[in-house]
Amino acid sequence: MTTLPQHIAIIMDGNGRWAKQRFMPRIAGHRAGIETTRRVIQYCARKNIKVLSLFAFSSENWRRPPQEVGYLMELFLTGLQREMHALHDGNIQLRFIGDRSRFSDKLRKKIEEVETLTGQNTGMTLIIAADYGGQWDIFQAVAHLAQAIEAGEVRGADITPADIASRLSFADLPDPDLFIRTSGELRISNFMLWQIAYSELYFTDILWPDFTEAELDKALLHYAGRDRRFGKSQQEPQQYITEG
Ligand code: IPE
Ligand code: IPE
Ligand code: MG
Repeated sequence: MTTLPQHIAIIMDGNGRWAKQRFMPRIAGHRAGIETTRRVIQYCARKNIKVLSLFAFSSENWRRPPQEVGYLMELFLTGLQREMHALHDGNIQLRFIGDRSRFSDKLRKKIEEVETLTGQNTGMTLIIAADYGGQWDIFQAVAHLAQAIEAGEVRGADITPADIASRLSFADLPDPDLFIRTSGELRISNFMLWQIAYSELYFTDILWPDFTEAELDKALLHYAGRDRRFGKSQQEPQQYITEG
């Protein structure tokens, strides 16, 4: 049996380029990407992955043309509407992280509805990062900590990294063990900056709509072969360790 990650975080990238290759509009790529997302969620749930985090929309994606942003918002709404009962039946708990204040009332309400519906589920936790940025996350944690200091609940002189970590969006969940980015881009693009400190990184050239269960298996195989040291020295057989 190989070692499985408890928490997988994925930057689902490459929808636009997938559509361009086919002389289709970018929105066709996003539609195809939703299908991949559905399959990856089901596959991870079947494999008993505890937490799956998906980067759906970054704080910076508002910089895209209004038409594309509007279409993405529409896709989130219809996708949630269509999938929420299947996810619930699969015992999956859905949580959204990010700054939802910029979403429409309709989308915000749908998000709350899905979170309430699935809130007591005990299977996989599915985190959808929407209007999310790692810098935003650290910023909001620090802002809350500053308020606690001002209110006299915490002494400024006593703060530790744990005071920030406990106020981040993923505070109650394990940090990602495996971080995957599709589409060949070798960057983090502001996803979970604090939490991926010791994640194993896996990059593939496959564009998100082409990402399959077999591709995920490849990533899992790579992960199983990694030697995670967390700053410690490599495990060595006892006889090679010199004293002194
Ligand atoms: C990822 O695909 C989806 C979102 C960011 C919402 P892109 O839309 O970034 O596709 P590329 O990177 O342009 O190919
Ligand atoms: C990251 O992809 C965000 C999501 C996949 C939601 P982008 O396509 O926005 O990232 P950059 O702009 O290439 O760094
Ligand atoms: Mg992209």
